[in-house]
Amino acid sequence: MKIAFIGTGNMGGALARAASQDGENELYLCNRHPEKAEKLRQEIGGKVAGYREAVMEAQMIFLGVKPVALPGLCETLRPLLSDKADPFVVVSMVAGVTLDELKNLLGRTFPIIRIMPNTPVSVGEGMILYSASSDAFVENFLHVMRYAGRFMPVEERLMDTGMAVSGCGPAFVDLFVEALADAGVAGGLPRKDALILAAQMVLGSAKLILESGKHPGELKDAVCSPGGTTIQGVRKLEKMAFRSAVIEAVYAARDAGKA
Ligand SMILES: NC(=O)c1ccc[n+]([C@@H]2O[C@H](COP(=O)([O-])OP(=O)(O)OC[C@H]3O[C@@H](n4cnc5c(N)ncnc54)[C@H](OP(=O)(O)O)[C@@H]3O)[C@@H](O)[C@H]2O)c1
Repeated sequence: MKIAFIGTGNMGGALARAASQDGENELYLCNRHPEKAEKLRQEIGGKVAGYREAVMEAQMIFLGVKPVALPGLCETLRPLLSDKADPFVVVSMVAGVTLDELKNLLGRTFPIIRIMPNTPVSVGEGMILYSASSDAFVENFLHVMRYAGRFMPVEERLMDTGMAVSGCGPAFVDLFVEALADAGVAGGLPRKDALILAAQMVLGSAKLILESGKHPGELKDAVCSPGGTTIQGVRKLEKMAFRSAVIEAVYAARDAGKA
């Protein structure tokens, strides 16, 4: 499939890398400063393109600019899209911009998929939420992006909440891992080793939750032997309102996304 990435920054670039793993895809990389697109092209192949070529050639057009840049970009794209005859889909990763708003900004009715990826896309373990304006192209989208990670359809009204959990979540997990490693260093572990212990533990725990299908509470109980050490750590986390802090963090992120 011919795929355009307009905005090849952190997230657009990560999704383009995933798409490039399917040798069948032809990529058109378009960025405000084209040298950034050129750097990505040297890494993953494809072609650096201007707006017209990217829009006219591609069947799937990803929008990867920051929310503030979207209205200006859409003004540029609108006349090009209105000239486009073949079926195509626009895929927007722009946080907080609804399908209706995208339709208004782009000025014509065609399939749109709104997605909310996260940074682990760059290692093929992303969590990508999506809402589509129609079923057209959804199968194609899932197929061409299959190397990016895991996909979940979500009602659009829940997109902001989903974004706060899985889109912002990597930063929360990073803080957690950093804190674990700090504690390891405080207890005498070398920093490098402490980080590996903490990150591999999070990776393994996440895998265990997903693969066992067990509730995290059950898995937690299995680590907490009566009168043991882990339950004392759990007691301290509860005293410091760890779970409440996480819940409030997600709500704050969700509400900021709506502002
Ligand atoms: N990063 C995340 O974890 C994450 C997660 C979910 C969703 N998102 C969404 O992904 C989008 C991009 O975020 P990001 O973190 O990847 O930002 P970023 O690294 O700043 O990338 C944005 C890219 O858009 C380019 N750009 C800006 N205006 C443009 C225009 N008019 N035409 C073509 N390219 C243009 C920028 O180019 P220049 O550098 O040349 O200005 C830059 O390469 C945002 O809407 C964000 O909400 C991000």
